[in-house]
Amino acid sequence: MKKIEAFIRHEALEAIHDQLVARGLPSMSVSEVKGSGRQAGFTEKYRGSRKAVFLRPKLKLEIAVDDADLERAIDCILELSHTGAPGDGKIFVFDIEEAIRVRTGERGPIVLESHTG
Ligand SMILES: Nc1ncnc2c1ncn2[C@@H]1O[C@H](COP(=O)(O)OP(=O)(O)OP(=O)(O)O)[C@@H](O)[C@H]1O
Ligand SMILES: [Mg+2]
Repeated sequence: MKKIEAFIRHEALEAIHDQLVARGLPSMSVSEVKGSGRQAGFTEKYRGSRKAVFLRPKLKLEIAVDDADLERAIDCILELSHTGAPGDGKIFVFDIEEAIRVRTGERGPIVLESHTG
């Protein structure tokens, strides 16, 4: 089991979510975050004076998937996040030790399967 943590632009979310649902991967968490990438801040007027703005708003997606689904989830995020401009985002992948569905006590990859019918 793997966890994808993807930093994306707000405008990419809907298409990514729709496409993941279509591919049988409907479960995700989304948070609003502020972040910086490798560029130095751009300047912006703030409270009357020019300041470097280092933190821009992004969305963070957290998606736990079975190993077998990892590459197609990544492909989907890559394809729909890419504009070619700086700030398109970044994807990190982590190993998951364990997954537990609270309602049933089930453990392991079965917890990550979506309903089939
Ligand atoms: N090393 C990192 N650690 C944690 N979060 C990161 C890291 N790199 C990027 N992020 C998150 O991803 C967001 C988007 O990063 P961004 O796409 O600007 O990366 P970049 O490396 O600067 O690439 P680019 O040159 O395409 O802009 C950041 O605002 C931040 O929230
Ligand atoms: Mg950047």
